[in-house]
Amino acid sequence: MKAVIPAAGLGTRFLPSTKAQPKEMLPVYDKPTIQYVIEEAVASGIDDILIVTGKGKRQIEDHFDRSFELEHNLREKGKIDTLKDVKAISDLADIYYVRQKKQKGLGDAIYQARKHIGDEPFAVLLGDTITKGDIPCTKSLINIYNKYNASAIAVEAVPSEKVERYGIISGNEIEKNVYKIDRLVEKPLVDEAPSNLAIMGRYVLDSDIFDLLKDTEPGFGGEIQLTDALSNLSQIYGHIFNGSSYDIGNRFEWLKTSIEFALNDDESHDELLKYLTEICKCNH
Ligand code: UTP
Repeated sequence: MKAVIPAAGLGTRFLPSTKAQPKEMLPVYDKPTIQYVIEEAVASGIDDILIVTGKGKRQIEDHFDRSFELEHNLREKGKIDTLKDVKAISDLADIYYVRQKKQKGLGDAIYQARKHIGDEPFAVLLGDTITKGDIPCTKSLINIYNKYNASAIAVEAVPSEKVERYGIISGNEIEKNVYKIDRLVEKPLVDEAPSNLAIMGRYVLDSDIFDLLKDTEPGFGGEIQLTDALSNLSQIYGHIFNGSSYDIGNRFEWLKTSIEFALNDDESHDELLKYLTEICKCNH
């Protein structure tokens, strides 16, 4: 299976940091967000990845390319472990690029992948969302796709005050944590939301979605919404992923994610905890 990573958005919620750099390249603790996303695809058995980029996203290509000058420099300085890490990034997978010429929305970004994907099912991983779990989120969606022979998307319960920020689904739970979806709505008002199950940025889709995207009119925010096209699929399943997801597209979530990841790393845990405890005391 191939994967598509849409990463062409403008990242306006994260300005000014995203004025001249892609939000997908913002580091979360010790590596850029999109590297976590690619590592999830690889851990799910995918080695052919198409990144949808746009204006100002050149850094993404550079990050996954070889850097002979840097490698030479690290070798000369005897930094062999760092050299290995740097080289490994360019060997992660076969990565291809296509440009979305105008930021017309997530649905339009995915439509740019049509030629590369062809008639096969494919995975979509949003370039600004990281997931963590014992089984990679995309892998668990591939398993559901194979079981029901239909598109599957990851969802998670969110507090009611947050439903207005996400695509929301409703449906019948047909097995533990798997819903047969009967409705999808993009960013509904809280009173009109069919549930509190939010789409969290991971999908395994049937290639039928391309015909639907082609005919999808601009929806919420004047953008071509993937959620609107998904609601016209004949069958689609929602899976409550057994793990955590982190939407780094807004600055507070990004900050919390960096702190959590640093606390989970033995190398920085003690020092960071000491620092956080001290500044919390000072702010009381
Ligand atoms: P977001 O909904 O977070 O949009 O996109 P955005 O435009 O990047 O961010 P804000 O709302 O202005 O802050 C979710 C994912 O879809 C991609 C983004 O790059 C992000 O990874 N996307 C979004 C595209 O590739 N193209 C688009 O036209 C819109």
